[in-house]
Order: sequence, then structure tokens, then C-alpha cells
Amino acid sequence: MIIAVDGPAASGKGTIARALAGHFGLPHMDTGLLYRAAALNLLGMGGDPESEFAAARACDLSQIDFDDPELRSETVGGVASRISAYPLVREALLERQRRFAGQPGGAILDGRDVGTVIAPAAEVKLFVTASPEVRAQRRYAELRRIGLDVHFPDVLADIRARDERDRSRAAAPLQVAEDADLLDTSDMTISAAVQRAIALVEARTGQSAQETAGPAS
Ligand code: C5P
Repeated sequence: MIIAVDGPAASGKGTIARALAGHFGLPHMDTGLLYRAAALNLLGMGGDPESEFAAARACDLSQIDFDDPELRSETVGGVASRISAYPLVREALLERQRRFAGQPGGAILDGRDVGTVIAPAAEVKLFVTASPEVRAQRRYAELRRIGLDVHFPDVLADIRARDERDRSRAAAPLQVAEDADLLDTSDMTISAAVQRAIALVEARTGQSAQETAGPAS
């Protein structure tokens, strides 16, 4: 079973995807991390984010430590959002995602174009969303928690700018797959959103966790 979880920044898709992976015993890939890794490489190489060729050269991820906390930084996220618009970058990262999705027993991937481009035949597609204000509030609280001196209006402006870039780019824009289930988490707690996501998966597959390939954790 392949589960695609797409949606905009700070919608809760990562949390939901990880919880679903644990519940259904499926391997999980955060595809945004690949774009972040390419961005970190590019910054490390002193490359220019305005150059599609420099960005494409930064897509060799063989030396990347995916546990590096720097990958989660706002700077890296901003550069990732820019270079993810380049077709050469998307192409360079495509195969790795398709291979992960196609592994025996299935997988769950979260990102922006999993249900539309990476795994259009996924059995379950969730599009997780929330209002820009709610997403900015979540991101703001998260950044404050780790001690960053950020201001809410800046965080909101950044969320809106990323939404705009993700939606308007020509290559694999963020859009709701025709056969996706929409999950708006604006007024939901994390646990309510996860329960709803599990129910949506079960409704689509007619399957509960015990019946899927892997062990539930
Ligand atoms: O999800 P996350 O914020 O970590 O992703 C970083 C950036 O990578 C996003 O702003 C988005 O532009 C890009 N991305 C993408 N396609 C994906 C996952 C992420 O374009 N499947």
C-alpha cells in the first residue's frame, strides 16, 4: 500500500505521515528533506540559488547526514523552496522518491507532489491543509520553542510566500490530486487529525492496521 500525504508548509502533514507510518507499520520518507538536503549542499558549495545548474549539481546527496539539525533551519527551508521550482532539481530527486514508493510492502511519503507526480497510483492520497494564520502560528510557536527571536508577521509573510512559490511554479506545483481526501487541520488537535487520517486510510483501503503488510508499532 502506498500512502501519499501532500500539503503546504506547517499543515501538519509530516506529523500525520509519521503517525500513519507507525500505525500501519510502513516505512516513511519526508520528501521535503531531499530538497532541504540539496539546498544545504548548495549553500555549503557556495553555489548561487538563482542558478538552476548550480542547484542541480547540489543534488548528489551521497554525503548528506539526514539527521543534521541544520536541514530544518528556516534558511535552508527558504533555499529549498526556491530551488524546488527548477525542473532539473525535481528530475534529479525523482528516482530516489519513486524507488522508495515502489518498495515491496508499500510506503508512505509526504511532500507536495507525491500524489500527483511521484506516486499517482497511490492507493491513498491525503491532502492536509490549514489556514495560513494557523500554520504560521504553529511555525511561530515551534521557532520560539527552540529559542529563535522571530516575529509573527514575518513568519506569516514567509508562509504566504512559500505557498505562492509552491503553487505557482510550472514544475510539479502544489495541487490537490483529483482523487485525494482533504484533511483541514485548522481546528483540530494533533491527535484528532491523526485519528481522522487513520479513518480516511481505512475507509479507502477497507483495511485496518493489523491487516497491512508490516507490524504496527
Ligand atoms: O516540506 P518542507 O518544508 O520540508 O519542504 C521544503 C521545500 O521543498 C518546500 O518549501 C517545497 O518548496 C519543496 N518541496 C517540494 N516538493 C516536495 C517536498 C518539498 O517542492 N515533494
